[in-house]
Amino acid sequence: MEVVIEPPGVIAALVADAVEGLLAAKPEAVLGLATGSSPQAVYDELARRCAAGRLSFARARAFMLDEYVGLPADHPERYRNVIDRDFAARVDIAPGAVHGPDGTADDLPAACAAYEATIAAAGGVDLQLLGIGTDGHIGFNEPGSSLASRTRLKTLTTQTRADNARFFGGDVGRVPRHCLTQGLATIMSARHLVLVATGAGKAEAVHHLVEGPVSAMWPATIMQHHPHATVLVDDAAASRLQLGAYYREVFAGKPAWQGL
Ligand code: GLP
Repeated sequence: MEVVIEPPGVIAALVADAVEGLLAAKPEAVLGLATGSSPQAVYDELARRCAAGRLSFARARAFMLDEYVGLPADHPERYRNVIDRDFAARVDIAPGAVHGPDGTADDLPAACAAYEATIAAAGGVDLQLLGIGTDGHIGFNEPGSSLASRTRLKTLTTQTRADNARFFGGDVGRVPRHCLTQGLATIMSARHLVLVATGAGKAEAVHHLVEGPVSAMWPATIMQHHPHATVLVDDAAASRLQLGAYYREVFAGKPAWQGL
């Protein structure tokens, strides 16, 4: 696992560099998209570079990590609508090339199985963007999630619903209780995992993710088993890392050609 400690603006540029490099090498690349506030600066940078003609998503496809269950199709906080607004509408990705688990389906287990099949048919995800919850979730894989899980229905923790209440007018009662999420094994199948975390509120989760024992209690720790995982954090999110000085030294000495 590579740990990069940089200011948020540098993190966004580094992740955009990785996406740009991937698309240059493989224009039909498959991207994994995360919602939440963590990837926003990355989406802003990708939109800027797309507008400037530096990169194109015209042949790319994308898969979302997760979705709320029970929100109406036109709800502004339905993740499908969030991704359309924050990413798809701002770049040149083809209509229909962005896929997400269907939280409005009558048969949710069938929708989850269909989603797994669609990801597999696309050849899997090349680069998966991730944020991390304060309780250590990735996607919506809450503590206790099977480390071998696939896309399925989950119940959100009280902590996650409280964290996400800011998107629902501060009213935790309006945050759905259930969601569909790619499983931890689904996420681990992506060829490159790129996790972004900023702010002191993420420091404990980042400490466990990078330096804790692998445990379903901190689901993101499964990333320690991934052969190509990059964790990009600002000073505040890195503040509880025991080996922070070492990670900084490693990154400072890294040849520029290596990329993430
Ligand atoms: C949300 C999402 C995750 C996200 C995480 C952190 O609930 N389901 O995909 O990574 O929690 O969110 P944020 O980046 O807003 O802190």
